Amino acid sequence: MAPAIIPTCFRSSSLHNLLNGFKTSKIPITSRFIHRQGKLFSTNMKVTDHVCNFQFKEYMAAKAKRVNKALDEAVPLHHPTKLTEAMRYSLLSEGKRVCPVLCIASCELVGGEESSAMPVACAIEMIKTVSLIQDDLPCMDDDETRRGMPANHKVFGEDTAILCGDSLICLAFQHIADKTTNVSPRRMLQAISELGSASGSKGLSGGQFLDLNSEGKMVTLSELEYIHTHKTAKLVEASAVCGAIMGGGSENEVERLRKYGRFIGLMYQVVDDILGVTKSSEELGKTAGKDLLCDKATYPKLIGVDGAKKFASELLDKALVELSYFDAEKAAPLYHLANYFANRQK
Ligand code: IPE
Ligand code: MG
Ligand code: MG
Repeated sequence: MAPAIIPTCFRSSSLHNLLNGFKTSKIPITSRFIHRQGKLFSTNMKVTDHVCNFQFKEYMAAKAKRVNKALDEAVPLHHPTKLTEAMRYSLLSEGKRVCPVLCIASCELVGGEESSAMPVACAIEMIKTVSLIQDDLPCMDDDETRRGMPANHKVFGEDTAILCGDSLICLAFQHIADKTTNVSPRRMLQAISELGSASGSKGLSGGQFLDLNSEGKMVTLSELEYIHTHKTAKLVEASAVCGAIMGGGSENEVERLRKYGRFIGLMYQVVDDILGVTKSSEELGKTAGKDLLCDKATYPKLIGVDGAKKFASELLDKALVELSYFDAEKAAPLYHLANYFANRQK
């Protein structure tokens, strides 16, 4: 497919009102985006009306609602009740659901149905939830709150939190196997393999391990990129890839979306680092535990806040280039998701 000259403009109203915390009209990351007539334009890309007029806020709300319903149904209360209550407590807490929505949007971009991606989208949210439950444990970042609520182990105890994590990981893979419909077994296995790889020692767990082991040590920029790519970007990448696989995407489409996911995934964590030094715990809905106290490596520490913003902006541009190979109208949700990742305030 020939590359189209595309991107992009974004309705600032959609972006800035998307979720709680979007109260400012400042554009902190993308210096190359400028305001014009109430919209955001990238100065180095051609504007398309399709992307401009896309109602992202409504799209996110509708998708998140259906994801929440599917998650609710995926984890019914059963014996032992305290364990399933702990699972539901974290899984159904007020998350942004960006990974599941990215998964579904990627599926739809390549011509698939939402229903084909929903089980894997739920599985991804389960894995994401486990990573946050574990991340907050005293032996890890030792944080007391998450998503504005007491952390899982604060409510249910460390023993239950650990078993709750085990249970959610097992359920994630069982859920894909049990609930996926209208997808070939080959594609389903591909998605299961992708998610397993993104979650394990070559992905999220490996990144978390190195993140913890870098505490108080000198970390180079390339080591930090490795940590962030693994602890955060791998699961974002897998979200886009699994969606495209379930939607019947070609190898080329899957690889474009893989790169897009990797760029915005790394950008997500760079922005997280920036928010960690520019926002209060109350604004973020999570306490600063070891992150600040134990001298963890972050982009602002290594290259300063402005350097980190510039890097995030470059990652956004690279992600948008990958999208330019797709039809702009169909890719509109993914343009907006990338911009939301760049400009989120919490
Ligand atoms: C959260 O990472 C967990 C994962 C990325 C898997 P961090 O420890 O860097 O971020 P917060 O501040 O606790 O969310
Ligand atoms: Mg951590
Ligand atoms: Mg943490």
